[in-house]
Amino acid sequence: MSELIRNKAELQDGLDKLSGRVALVMTMGALHDGHLSLVRAAKKVADHVVVSIFVNPLQFGPNEDFDAYPRQLDKDIGLLDTVGVDLVFAPEESDMYPREPLVRIDPGPIAAVYEGATRPTHFAGVLQVVHKVLNLAHPDVAIFGQKDAQQLALIRTMVADLNMPVEIQSVPIKREESGLALSSRNAYLSEDEYIEALALNQALVLGKDAAQHGAGPEQVRTVATRYLDQAPGVKLDYLAVVDPETFEDLVAQDAPRGDRGLIITAAWVGPTRLIDNMEVTFHA
Ligand code: PAF
Repeated sequence: MSELIRNKAELQDGLDKLSGRVALVMTMGALHDGHLSLVRAAKKVADHVVVSIFVNPLQFGPNEDFDAYPRQLDKDIGLLDTVGVDLVFAPEESDMYPREPLVRIDPGPIAAVYEGATRPTHFAGVLQVVHKVLNLAHPDVAIFGQKDAQQLALIRTMVADLNMPVEIQSVPIKREESGLALSSRNAYLSEDEYIEALALNQALVLGKDAAQHGAGPEQVRTVATRYLDQAPGVKLDYLAVVDPETFEDLVAQDAPRGDRGLIITAAWVGPTRLIDNMEVTFHA
């Protein structure tokens, strides 16, 4: 059974009782098998696992789903107990933010594009809370999912630029058999929307196939974009082929640095905004 911790002071007491390597998995709750795959990865690289559950208000825009975001702490703890973790840190908002923070993390240029263009304050809010929880839990390693690829690139950049003493590891996207990437927001989809949402993964697979057959970044982007543009029920926000570390647009580059790329997309399916991505290797 995991120990539930509701505030910062108790977290320190809980951590003091652990010896050996500690891994942190940060979540906003509404856990699914994707989160559990992060916990399983954490267990392989550390002696103890701490999971945080906190719906961080700072990373939601004024018209986003902060109030509606699913909150199910008891169910989440039950799920974590099936995998086995040491501490579950689920603080109150007043404990995490006793007042409006005055010192803010500036996430820089990677946060200005794609997700950041549509959600201008999102990544500043993400890095603020990630920085705080890393400071509170001071783990040896922190594990994040590749589904939030731009978030992962920004966390790696923050840790490198601020010399934060933590190793960042990532875990591949977990998909349903249908190909749909697991997401807490999938809970918002109706039955019809669920079928429509499969187009995101299908477009990425088409793009990846094109790359395997010799297509370059521009052709890959065209193939995948065309597919999503005609997909019923899907309203495309963006689709791009980027450098997985810097998020620079590979289509705009004359000489990409390597052969690795990431196809990234975001689209609305009904009122729900979903994101997905897939790694590609270029063979030109
Ligand atoms: O990926 C998430 O669920 C959140 O952005 C994170 C990293 C837990 C910060 O609130």
